[in-house]
Amino acid sequence: MHELANELNTALKGTIVDEMFSAVGRRMFFPKGIVAQAAEAKKKATRFNATIGMATSKGMPMHLSDIFTQFAENSLTPSQIFAYAPGGGDPELRELWKSEMFRKNPSLQGKAVSLPIVTGGLTHGLSLLAQLFFEEGDTLIVPDLAWDNYELIFSHQVNTTIKTFPFYTETGAFNVDALKETLSSLPGKKARILLNFPNNPTGFTPSKTEIERTKEALVQLADDGMKLMVISDDAYFGLFFEEETEKESLFASLCDAHENIFAVKADAATKEEMVWGFRIGFVTYGGKGLKAEHYDALNKKTLGIIRSTVSNCDRPGQSLILKAMRDGKNYQADKSAAFAEMERRYHTIKASLKKYENSELLKPYPFNSGYFMAFKCKGSSEVLRTYLLDTYQIGCINIQDTTLRLAYCSVECDKIEELIDLVYQAAGEAWN
Ligand SMILES: Cc1ncc(COP(=O)(O)O)c(C=O)c1O
Repeated sequence: MHELANELNTALKGTIVDEMFSAVGRRMFFPKGIVAQAAEAKKKATRFNATIGMATSKGMPMHLSDIFTQFAENSLTPSQIFAYAPGGGDPELRELWKSEMFRKNPSLQGKAVSLPIVTGGLTHGLSLLAQLFFEEGDTLIVPDLAWDNYELIFSHQVNTTIKTFPFYTETGAFNVDALKETLSSLPGKKARILLNFPNNPTGFTPSKTEIERTKEALVQLADDGMKLMVISDDAYFGLFFEEETEKESLFASLCDAHENIFAVKADAATKEEMVWGFRIGFVTYGGKGLKAEHYDALNKKTLGIIRSTVSNCDRPGQSLILKAMRDGKNYQADKSAAFAEMERRYHTIKASLKKYENSELLKPYPFNSGYFMAFKCKGSSEVLRTYLLDTYQIGCINIQDTTLRLAYCSVECDKIEELIDLVYQAAGEAWN
């Protein structure tokens, strides 16, 4: 074990984080190598700075003018576009993302959480969490309706066993009891959980009461001595369309809930700021009893895994997002307009589904948020998917041959009714 890893492990000894590390997580540290020395030099090397592998001239990165001229005059400097980003991300963006997180989740006020670290998108955030905290022999609990990439990340990459619980109760609520039962049935009094609201593929977010019950269930297990790591995948955060829906991240209620609960928030600019191709996400840690020195050690481990994988995350994307969030004249208006359009599509699809309430072919799962809705299919959803594609040139997603997912976020409002009519018509034709 490297001496620096030992120091971080000692700093975290006895905490809930210490319980959760994988062997990789335990070995990980942020070296005092090129990046750390360059950061030190940036502050002190006022005469010559010969530390970093970047071609510079007149204090700026050299660059292709054909790229630089793509940006508006006087918007970003060459350094804000072409230089490496600081390790962990642009400090101003990290602070701004954190303060926005507190604004969007008022119950975070007064709670201590880590400074978000920039990742190469949310998938990268989950992947680095997988490496730091998951390994063969561990189990990850997810609902039976979940994003398919979890399997690739947690099962195939780090060889964790994925165990599912039914997402919904009979009455279409979030199945807190099933989550609790599944957790209680695990041997070893230790569990890792990944929850994603608004959910992909169902478009469902639990109500305020269901989230409160989820927290109570987890705290009860923690009281009984169970050690829990709960990752909130907040990819679609903010797209809540109904009054009773919980509008805060589960992370906000869990980050100070119990000494035995380690809460992690994985979120991203990807959907929240509508920059899908930029590849910018964030990982934030929280836990009752975790102090600044613990978060610092945890962030150093996280920096180590980033340094040893992608090394550094996208620079121009960070600069552009920061500029829009901090100074954008149209930032709030554009976001509000996009939300209003998504909400309009949501209400349109709800209305279009009404006439098929009694159909036995396709039963929509309850949905109230996000980008998607999904049907429980009477026949093969793969047969329906290919039939829709070949016969009507309509693309949808089949999940495990039982569920058909519609990303209504990408269908114009005035086409949604036609889409629903054709999906039901196709189901009747494909499964006859
Ligand atoms: C639930 C969920 N988590 C994470 C992601 C990945 O986000 P990113 O594009 O930032 O990696 C997605 C995107 O499809 C998603 O649906």
